[in-house]
Amino acid sequence: MEQSQRLLIAVDGPAASGKGTIARALARHYDLPHLDTGMLYRGVALALFRFGGDPGNAFEARRAVEGLEQIDLGDEELRSEVIGEIASRVSAYPGVREALLERQKHFADQEGGAVLDGRDIGTVICPDADAKLFVTASPEVRAERRFREIEGRGIKVSLEDVLADIRARDERDAGRDNAPLVQAEDAVLLDTSAMGVEDAIAAAVRAVETARGNT
Ligand code: DC
Repeated sequence: MEQSQRLLIAVDGPAASGKGTIARALARHYDLPHLDTGMLYRGVALALFRFGGDPGNAFEARRAVEGLEQIDLGDEELRSEVIGEIASRVSAYPGVREALLERQKHFADQEGGAVLDGRDIGTVICPDADAKLFVTASPEVRAERRFREIEGRGIKVSLEDVLADIRARDERDAGRDNAPLVQAEDAVLLDTSAMGVEDAIAAAVRAVETARGNT
């Protein structure tokens, strides 16, 4: 069967589902460029935080998009829980999403394809992706993973607090009107609750191969 040259892969899922790890592994496996779109929203959140803006104010949040150029997307602060929480709030504003749309579509439009991960890649950014994965895991498993990751950075937290944060973030990301977190109709569901990293990556590669018609 003739194969198309392009391979565009959309990976969506809730916070701490393992979608970032899977998207990075797929990008390595297929030698494709990768964009973690959550980092764009986190960048806007950090810009807003630094200029003392109010995440409850849509106008200030939209203005913070202009500050994204000043943010180093490798900055460790972007990964903090505080910034993740602000990112979840500012990402609910249509103006913020609209302002970040072109950049994501442009990235997806590269000749050989790309891997993008986020919340609305399969539904809004790349509805015509060649393969779509929806990566999830139970809130308890995701909280446990996030807890270990935070502890690994030398920060003290309680597992209950992390679980409460995960649930609050799920509710906000899935409950917003604009591009909510939802599985695309044609996405393959990958529940990693009972999987180790290597098994989850292998399952993701199989799902992509199936979507490309290779199995
Ligand atoms: O994946 P993450 O935790 O780094 O994302 C941070 C927040 O950004 C998330 O809570 C919701 C928002 N986000 C979004 O609305 N759309 C995306 N494509 C990616 C992230």
